[in-house]
Amino acid sequence: MKSTGGTTAAKQRAARAAADRVSDGMTIGLGTGSTAAHAIDALGERVADGLDIRAVTTSFSSRMRALDAGIEVIDLDEAGGGIDLAIDGADQIALDAGDCIKGGGAAHTREKMVASAADRFHVVVDETKIADSLSHPVAIEVLPAAHRLVADAVAKRGGEPTLRTAERKDGPVVTDNGNLVVDANFGTLESPRSLAAELSSLAGVVDHGLFVDAVTAASVGDDDGVETIVY
Ligand code: A5P
Repeated sequence: MKSTGGTTAAKQRAARAAADRVSDGMTIGLGTGSTAAHAIDALGERVADGLDIRAVTTSFSSRMRALDAGIEVIDLDEAGGGIDLAIDGADQIALDAGDCIKGGGAAHTREKMVASAADRFHVVVDETKIADSLSHPVAIEVLPAAHRLVADAVAKRGGEPTLRTAERKDGPVVTDNGNLVVDANFGTLESPRSLAAELSSLAGVVDHGLFVDAVTAASVGDDDGVETIVY
């Protein structure tokens, strides 16, 4: 897993702040990425101490991490009563608005499914992820046959599309769902909500990494401590 952003200590502080809010009997959504991985590890430690939870994961990577941590993993289908709390990282978060961009690990489609099934969505980030306005490229998961179609639509809307390429493999990144990722750089987003709706409406788009009005709490860690904002 690639580690982006701030220090490990900052990420761990944010992750622990969210993991500390978990209690017995909860169904938890587990996100993907280096910060979410710290939350999984923290929950694993609490499970070893007797915490009784089950979890829905958002990627192959978070599933393996949760199983290694000793956490019971279930499918989204099995989470009958829904998910009590989803914990996940972000590539960038606009704290005032509570909107964020995800998908640096190409897991945003399942992350959005799990977040939308959850009563609460707690984002955990280090301080390098904070922005006044969102400007990070937006990851768009596309059906393979639609990558040019979607790239053209992004360019028409003033964005700069890039098909995400794999490292240590020739060709594109292939998501856990067998699709491709177009990263769309729109610069600073004037209206994340309308962009989110427009991207969702494009033919061939599976889902994108713009999360608008989804975050219910955000914990921001740095090298001195952690602050949690509840929306
Ligand atoms: C996974 O697809 C992403 O949404 C991650 O949650 C996001 O990229 C943040 O990852 P880090 O915590 O590793 O920065």
